[in-house]
Amino acid sequence: MAGQQTAVRQGFGVDIGGSGIKGAPVDLDKGAMAAERLRVATPQPSTPTAVAAVVGDICRHFNWTGPLGCTFPAVVQNGVARTAANVDKAWIGTDLAVLLSTATGSQVTAMNDADAAGVAEMAFGAGRDQNGVVVLVTLGTGIGSALFVDGRLVPNTELGHLEVSGQEAETRASDAARDRDNLSWKDWAHRLQRYLRTLENLLWPDLIILGGGVSKKATKFVPLMDVRTPLVTAQLLNDAGIVGAAEAATPRPPG
Ligand code: BGC
Repeated sequence: MAGQQTAVRQGFGVDIGGSGIKGAPVDLDKGAMAAERLRVATPQPSTPTAVAAVVGDICRHFNWTGPLGCTFPAVVQNGVARTAANVDKAWIGTDLAVLLSTATGSQVTAMNDADAAGVAEMAFGAGRDQNGVVVLVTLGTGIGSALFVDGRLVPNTELGHLEVSGQEAETRASDAARDRDNLSWKDWAHRLQRYLRTLENLLWPDLIILGGGVSKKATKFVPLMDVRTPLVTAQLLNDAGIVGAAEAATPRPPG
């Protein structure tokens, strides 16, 4: 209505990773950060108590006490971490939602990191308005996945642990594997193609979104791959986890 101001829908997201913990308020009308994010190095050892203290500091830095979305690089089922492929094993069985609510005073929604990135891409990025089956794959230290059916997340798919030629996909085809094995873009693209072909033969997705930091360099490896499914790169890049977690944690106004 002319002259009527509508309030900006704001949320807050924190992305817990192996090397950094990043947080920022998020403008959920735009799907973008509302202020420059704060990054704190992940404490070593990254025990639940030490990480929770950092998350508390980040929220206090922004004076945030509203609903908080938090990503974690493992299976998170109903707020509880169930696995710890690339993080301290002490996390297994930890109720992230309870731990972080205590540290921040906020109501916390905790979720898998790739699921959060997927939520952001579906709401604001490469998956916007996409129906059918969409898979987002994040390529980083590990391989994360997020599966959507008509825009609804099927949480904790863990498709980075699919076995391809007798080996876990993330061991062979993650960005860390590219570094570790000193692979050319061509050789890495070949490994990735093999993984994506396995994925598409099992799921028959309508769209695959490639995410993770390396997706910024998509022109170096995407043209070298031949897969059946339309392949696009993520649009939110580094912000995806924070934006997706905030989106998932913040109630939508009715209507
Ligand atoms: C974990 C996933 C996570 C992915 C990316 C994998 O090793 O099992 O839960 O999403 O790494 O961090």
